[in-house]
Amino acid sequence: MGGGGGGGGGAGKRRATGLHCRAERHCPPPNPPHRKRGEGNARSVLAIALILACAPAEAAGDKALGEYLSAECTSCHQSSGKQVGGIPAIVGHPAEQFVALMNAYRQRQRDNQVMQAIAARLSSEEIAALAAYYESLKPNP
Ligand code: HEC
Repeated sequence: MGGGGGGGGGAGKRRATGLHCRAERHCPPPNPPHRKRGEGNARSVLAIALILACAPAEAAGDKALGEYLSAECTSCHQSSGKQVGGIPAIVGHPAEQFVALMNAYRQRQRDNQVMQAIAARLSSEEIAALAAYYESLKPNP
């Protein structure tokens, strides 16, 4: 097999049209049916390994989903990391801290009506995804 050609360069602004397609991005479909005998087992083991390798990455926060969801946030929080009009920058926060902040709004431990309403609408998976995405961004002075 000759290594997975291409594949790179997708980090730009791709706009997810629907959430259903994100799993396909991360997990290439198993190999198409093939003619050679004998290789089947090795191939399916590889396919299973690929699927297993993907699962924890999603649990930790799906960056592509985070990027998609962040569209809502950037109207207030600058993705450059600049602080504008008293709205704190949320770029480059460690994911754990980000999740903790969002949960604090969700549970109304932190007082801010706007953020409480926003956090209340997000699932834990979505917050993890946003955390992974924002952690990966670098403030851009
Ligand atoms: C309508 C404007 C607005 C939108 C939209 C918005 N935020 Fe906020 N956000 C704020 C304001 C204002 C604060 C500061 C609140 C405070 O003082 O606690 C804040 C605070 C935060 C904080 C805490 C930052 C810190 O270091 O204290 C996080 C994390 C955060 N927002 C994440 C998000 C995410 C993720 C989204 C999108 C899903 C989002 N925000 C959308 C206005 C907004």
